[in-house]
Amino acid sequence: MRAAEDRDLPSIITIATATGQEEAQADGYPAYVRHLMRHGRFLVASAANEVTGYGATLRIGTGPAAISMLADLFVRPSAHGSGVGRALLTELWRDQPRRMTFSSLHPNALPLYASFGVDAWWPLLYFSGQVRSLASPAGFAVDVAAPAEVAALERDWTGLDRTPEHEAWAADDGGLSMIVSRAGKPVGAGSASGQGATCGLMHFVVARSDKEHAADAVLAALAFLDPPGGTAELCVPAPHPVTRALLGARWRISEFDLHMASEAGLIDPALTVPSPGLA
Ligand SMILES: CC(C)(COP(=O)(O)OP(=O)(O)OC[C@H]1O[C@@H](n2cnc3c(N)ncnc32)[C@H](O)[C@@H]1OP(=O)(O)O)[C@@H](O)C(=O)NCCC(=O)NCCS
Repeated sequence: MRAAEDRDLPSIITIATATGQEEAQADGYPAYVRHLMRHGRFLVASAANEVTGYGATLRIGTGPAAISMLADLFVRPSAHGSGVGRALLTELWRDQPRRMTFSSLHPNALPLYASFGVDAWWPLLYFSGQVRSLASPAGFAVDVAAPAEVAALERDWTGLDRTPEHEAWAADDGGLSMIVSRAGKPVGAGSASGQGATCGLMHFVVARSDKEHAADAVLAALAFLDPPGGTAELCVPAPHPVTRALLGARWRISEFDLHMASEAGLIDPALTVPSPGLA
């Protein structure tokens, strides 16, 4: 096992594609991998000089309260079940007591993660739909903002500094950061990715003091987007109040992951629209 390097990118994309990650073919995927290499810990496992699997974690927050988010864990299909995933995870989660990830439904995933002391708390629903099917809720305003402004609001609300991720999402081709306000007061803030196949809301947080407006704040953010073809995507915790609103507007769920964490509440599912890759 060793730290991933830029020269591993083709092997990483090959394994991601072979394990069904369609987004690995998208233009923005190398930037995502490089973001994790730069800001997180990215390991590859290799045998006979060939990469057999890789995994990456991102530390969210600082000090003893920091959360180790497992962003990626993928093993070449021919090596599934042979302990490569366990070896990578043992290294990545060493000395990281606060852990979380979004587990796929692959049969090896949940049992492997559970053995590292994380439990499954709620499904993360992959939604897509027509933004024009959503009426922007009355009384809400949406403004494009600098990623640093959005990150500062999120830091006030959650204590977590996500500046590098907001900057990365907004830097995506057609990406942007935005603030949703009600009666002139910011109630939600987040970033959307670009105009490609994965255009959508990547990460959005609502202030705890405005919890009752969580669904409307997300709807206002989505209605503000102008994706090509009119279709946008986002990942919503099943307990988030916007889930029912999106289903009511005929948005569709294509798949789901399971949020697994060493304790409940590392992410508030009623206030957060997280990115499964960067949370
Ligand atoms: C998920 C994945 C990363 C795990 O890596 P891996 O190398 O296959 O997993 P390992 O061999 O290290 O461990 C799998 C564990 O699951 C257990 N397991 C497998 N099927 C199981 C089942 N049906 N019930 C209970 N346990 C099961 C195995 O016994 C093993 O545990 P053990 O080490 O105690 O014996 C890999 O299979 C993969 O890339 N899958 C496809 C992509 C994917 O879904 N990735 C996860 C993204 S969240």
